Amino acid sequence: MIKVAVLGYGTVGSGVLEVFQKNQEILNQNVGEEIELKYVLDRKKFPGDPVERYLIHDFETIVNDPEIKIVVEVMGGLNPSFDFVKRCLENQKSVCTSNKELVAQHGTDLLLTAKEHHVNFLFEASCGGGIPIIRPLYQSLTADRIDEVSGILNGTTNYILSKMTSDGYGFEEVLKRAQDKGYAERDPQADVEGYDACRKIAILSSLAFGNYIDYKDIYTEGITDITATDIKYAKAAGAVIKLLAIGRRTDQGAYALVCPVMIDASNSLYSVNSVFNAVSVHGNMIGDAMFYGKGAGKRPTASAVVADVVEAAKNPGTTVMGDGWNAKKLELMPLDDIP
Ligand code: HSE
Repeated sequence: MIKVAVLGYGTVGSGVLEVFQKNQEILNQNVGEEIELKYVLDRKKFPGDPVERYLIHDFETIVNDPEIKIVVEVMGGLNPSFDFVKRCLENQKSVCTSNKELVAQHGTDLLLTAKEHHVNFLFEASCGGGIPIIRPLYQSLTADRIDEVSGILNGTTNYILSKMTSDGYGFEEVLKRAQDKGYAERDPQADVEGYDACRKIAILSSLAFGNYIDYKDIYTEGITDITATDIKYAKAAGAVIKLLAIGRRTDQGAYALVCPVMIDASNSLYSVNSVFNAVSVHGNMIGDAMFYGKGAGKRPTASAVVADVVEAAKNPGTTVMGDGWNAKKLELMPLDDIP
């Protein structure tokens, strides 16, 4: 029997509980033995909620419990997430996280810590919500030199831009809807200013190009300056506005950026609407491959993070993907030199 603890009972945490409750048998079958939740850590109380039988308030109980082999971190933010995750790894517990801020900022350190302690540090849910994109990059597309990873990586902004385009809603009104649906970050500035997409493209490009890319080096522009008039002009030109995240390497060097772009119907991202994300990858052997699905929300994100739990349970310590990416930082081309 493998026992699991969850750190955080917000939108994604409640989705994780739902996956365990609805798909318990499937999880057992896919792992090859029984796997069950033992604890859910949160500061708050949830009277009458199904989480009550698992709920605890003290992290030390989890980190000191030898029965816990896998920890799911879905608290978000860096503090105390980084400290908790690091201590779990050092205590021989694999960690599966949806926290892109944590992975973009401390991924190199945490991957090396996991390697040193022969456990897994997995983060499929950190990019693209329910879309499998991290694992394909390090487990499937391993025969290719990957020169591009790009697409729509933020569900909230894609939802906002789509609704503004199709229904003529105002920015604030649609943002509120995205928050109500559980797509937006706790601080939605991270979505609308492009920081969330920036962290995600830093993670994906680091994996694709094999060297750590510092998200702070990535030129990032969000959608807060996009007006209803811009959307109208784009429409009149037969185009739509999308927030794109691009990571590319060329013979001149590598670059990454996040910014709103006008695209027409000949672009495969044109019809990627609502909360959907799409990521395209170009490898020198496979050519173009595209990954599409729900990029945010409780169930898709919980599905991705619990799939990592299954992976950690099946293959403990063996899927740490080398170092994930080389700790040596990849210097990006300055904005002015980007072709
Ligand atoms: N706020 C994020 C988004 C959640 O809208 O894409 C999923 O990472």
